[in-house]
Amino acid sequence: MDAKDLLGLVHPALAVILVFPILGMVVNMAWQTRQRRLETSAGGKSLIPPVVNREHVKFGHYLTGSVVGLTSIALAYSIIFKGELFQKEISSIVVIVLMFVATIGSLICLYQSRRYIWRGILAAMTSAGLIILGSQEGVFWRTEQWYISHYYSGILVSILMVIALTIKPKIYEDRSNKWRKIHIILNCFALFLFCLQGVTGVRDLLDKPLSWQSPYLEQCDWTQQICPNFKFFQSR
Ligand code: HEM
Ligand code: HEM
Repeated sequence: MDAKDLLGLVHPALAVILVFPILGMVVNMAWQTRQRRLETSAGGKSLIPPVVNREHVKFGHYLTGSVVGLTSIALAYSIIFKGELFQKEISSIVVIVLMFVATIGSLICLYQSRRYIWRGILAAMTSAGLIILGSQEGVFWRTEQWYISHYYSGILVSILMVIALTIKPKIYEDRSNKWRKIHIILNCFALFLFCLQGVTGVRDLLDKPLSWQSPYLEQCDWTQQICPNFKFFQSR
């Protein structure tokens, strides 16, 4: 493995080591938060401690940040190595770097902001940033099979996490539980997408040749699933 191959492992490794464990904690605490609310709202007492609500939201904050970070790392890798960013003009490089700064910067400001108008604008800026970066050369979209694309569901789940962070104050303000229900529906779908990411991510990792294998595999016919007899090719 060369340095490029090793850097390609950063995104999958962080997903496994960081993001999925946080997701597990968020979901565990979400379930307890709900059980506790249903038990106490029925007038009874709950054995679940009140701290689960706060912990769910605290780890929810970590989840949003880590998912957007994870997606940004994957996009940066694809844009730099597969899109050959450093072969491009300096102005293109500067625009891409500024896009990353604006996207991450908007998310950081979203964590701090209180006014709804700003929360909406910053959430839209973070999401737009991810979509614009995702549409750059080098990113593998798999558009013809969008329903099993690691890219589309990855961007969608990142935006759903940004939305969860944005509507957080609404859940507390609203007595009718409308925003709470919206949160549950959106995030159950997000949970499904996270599971899908686990499957499509592992598939993509299996699909990816190592750098030294690429020149050989480019000579294969992928539809017929046949490769030339490599015995006859000179090694690099
Ligand atoms: C896959 C991820 C997530 C799932 C499945 C999830 C699910 C849930 C569920 C089931 C509840 C309890 C609703 C009820 O009381 O019936 C809840 C509450 C809540 N969630 Fe999430 N959630 C997720 C991520 C997040 C994130 C990223 C945030 C914000 C950063 C967040 C913020 C909240 C808040 C503020 C509440 C209300 C807590 C309270 O009542 O004190 N959630 N969530
Ligand atoms: C929270 C979960 C995840 C999210 C949001 C996510 C998101 C993304 C995004 C947006 C891309 C860029 C699309 C592209 O250029 O191909 C990508 C690429 C990739 N992801 Fe994930 N991913 C997640 C989990 C995983 C997991 C669990 C694995 C494998 C164990 C994985 C392996 C990969 C691989 C191999 C690539 C291709 C990058 C390359 O060309 O080297 N991902 N991911």
